[in-house]
Amino acid sequence: MSTSPQLGADASAWDNYLSWYKVTPEATTGDPTGFLGGVHASTRGYRQIYVNSTGEAVNRSSASYPYPEGTILLKESFSNEAALDARRNVELTVMIKLAAGQSPATGDWEYVRPDDARGTGDSGLATFCRDCHLFAAATDYNFINSVFFQNNR
Ligand code: HEC
Repeated sequence: MSTSPQLGADASAWDNYLSWYKVTPEATTGDPTGFLGGVHASTRGYRQIYVNSTGEAVNRSSASYPYPEGTILLKESFSNEAALDARRNVELTVMIKLAAGQSPATGDWEYVRPDDARGTGDSGLATFCRDCHLFAAATDYNFINSVFFQNNR
């Protein structure tokens, strides 16, 4: 899958993500949005989502969409509940909000895979992530925000 040159922050920007606002106070499993397909450790996986301080107000619905530049949404995926409890083999997928106009094809999000490959523009990686996250276009490509979590627990 073709990737693209890095535009957003280095991976060191999420070194301390465990101190960020936790969008999912309890891990999600199954397919709460109905759009999971087979990705993100599939329906048997356990997932936890975090947002950095830049995006927190929008995520918590005290500011309106779109997310500001510099927002980072990060998701941990574990293959099952035992792995979650032991924090074993965590996989991180990340979305970084770029400056307006940097990647119109992805709503100005840079998608980052667990191996740190980057996806913007019309690269294969960007298209793969974007084509599914597009179902959440009304909330700026973000499937699970704080409001969704509260309403679907
Ligand atoms: C087939 C659909 C699909 C594809 C493809 C997909 N995602 Fe997701 N993604 C989801 C769903 C559904 C969620 C909500 C998580 C859950 O259900 O627990 C999600 C959640 C996320 C989140 C947390 C923020 C949010 O929107 O809830 C990030 C970050 C993320 N995905 C990154 C990526 C990246 C990076 C790629 C490409 C490598 C990707 N996704 C590809 C469906 C997809």
